[in-house]
Amino acid sequence: MNINWYPGHMKVTIDKLKESLRLVDIIVEIIDARIPLSSRNPKLDSLIGDKPRIIILNKADLADPNENANWKKYFESKGYGVLIVDALKNKGLEKLKQVSELELTEKRARDGRRNIIDETIKMMIVGIPNVGKSTIINTLTGRRGAKVGNKPGVTRSNQWIKSRDGLELLDTPGVLWPKFEDKRVGLNLAFTGAIEDTILDTEEIAFKLIERINSINPKLLKDRYKIETDGLSPLEIMEEIARKRGALLRGGLLDYTKVSMIILTEFRSAMIGRITLERVSDGILY
Ligand code: G4P
Repeated sequence: MNINWYPGHMKVTIDKLKESLRLVDIIVEIIDARIPLSSRNPKLDSLIGDKPRIIILNKADLADPNENANWKKYFESKGYGVLIVDALKNKGLEKLKQVSELELTEKRARDGRRNIIDETIKMMIVGIPNVGKSTIINTLTGRRGAKVGNKPGVTRSNQWIKSRDGLELLDTPGVLWPKFEDKRVGLNLAFTGAIEDTILDTEEIAFKLIERINSINPKLLKDRYKIETDGLSPLEIMEEIARKRGALLRGGLLDYTKVSMIILTEFRSAMIGRITLERVSDGILY
């Protein structure tokens, strides 16, 4: 995420979102299944009120399957329709229409009483940068390669595109800002690669990630890197990984930058395992 959100951008985004809200039946909020809370926009709830909403837990292929199920239950208990999705492999999106119909049951009944027959479902996709909005729109519509720029704001043109199963989508998703004033959220976004590494201290992020994975499930690190981690500090674990992977400088000194890149890349592609960094059981729900 390499964009800056200024108060002006936020206002434009909010105004546009409100405008678009009137055009759609359902909001589809995309979040990253590995960080279901940190990948949400803090204002969305108050902005969209009780408009029917579907939450897509995207990148589910990179997250812990048990946690995906826990989060699905959690968000369903809040009254949302929820889908567990791997947009790259087009898994989970086939139920979007069915879940949308369910969310619109009340509206359909209301329309029926007023003799309005409108079977179309109009929706808008929203989410912070990098959660997979473009991928999902492209997958749903069969559109190829159209990357939606991570520019603040929402739909300029209000064009509709039809999904393969007849859903009507606003052509450009609402790009929202994350809760970046919260340090914990910033770290989670950095771990998942939603914030570009260049502006962050790669070694610091990798170190914190090792610390986090080690507290969630130390076996993952042991198995991936074939190292013993018992009794080791996160820094010592990092050093063990560096030795195992030959991340060494001349003279045998450890190459911390190199090992940090290895750790981040392997986490982001789930080579260390399918890891959910924010779990329902952590109890930090907001
Ligand atoms: P955005 O419009 O919300 O900003 O996100 P976009 O679709 O561009 O997706 C961001 C990155 O996430 C892309 O990787 C995309 O391929 C990947 N992605 C989207 N959905 C899924 C999913 O369900 N599973 C997995 N594993 N990856 C997914 P990228 O092109 O490599 O971009 P980047 O990571 O280099 O920024």
